[in-house]
Amino acid sequence: MSPLKRTVQIAPSILAADFINMERELKSIESAELIHVDVMDGHFVPNLTIGPPVVEAIKSVATKPLDVHLMIESPETYLRHYVEAGADILGVHVEACPHLHGTLGEIRKLGARSCAVLNPATPADSIRHVLETVDQILVMTVNPGFGGQSFIKAMLPKIETIRGWIEASGLAIDLQVDGGVTIDNIGQAASAGANIFVAGSSVFKPPSLDRKDKIDALRNAAENPK
Ligand code: DX5
Ligand code: ZN
Repeated sequence: MSPLKRTVQIAPSILAADFINMERELKSIESAELIHVDVMDGHFVPNLTIGPPVVEAIKSVATKPLDVHLMIESPETYLRHYVEAGADILGVHVEACPHLHGTLGEIRKLGARSCAVLNPATPADSIRHVLETVDQILVMTVNPGFGGQSFIKAMLPKIETIRGWIEASGLAIDLQVDGGVTIDNIGQAASAGANIFVAGSSVFKPPSLDRKDKIDALRNAAENPK
């Protein structure tokens, strides 16, 4: 299958949403395929966000699957908490998992889709041994911790490499990018082989009611790269 024929999915990151009005914010992104939820612990990344009770609250009003991105130390301790809170996809950082293969297997056993996340400094090779155990691979295109950063273009070859391995394996693994995704670079990420696109600032900022238009424009740019 050519990279352009893959199912494109847009995953707005609620880190950039208005937390006071989360139910309304979630309603405004109902045309997206996934809801990306950033969990940060103030240790793995220098920022602190939300935990299982807030994920559970989001799940109670969400109409799309929750794609939960754990930027935390020792994620293996908390997998059950996040799956029980409503994570449909659960992502753990390769750098935080000494037993990555086992942790991804555990996520599947708990009933969620497993996702392995790579920081920009982490080489593609770090996930080559887990292709059979992973449902989704996330290549970070910023250093995690904050929204609103610039897309690191040097990640494109890493995306191409991993897409090549996925194609060669014949496995149905989704390849995701997260960080600084905009209408101007989403086509490049798609051409490199990504098919799930996290977008925080480019969907939620500046606040406005035309979120559906923004999501449609991002999806269209990913499906028809220039
Ligand atoms: C960064 C988070 C991202 C972030 C993306 O650590 O993992 O999901 O919310 O936000 P933008 O799209 O603004 O870079
Ligand atoms: Zn994220």
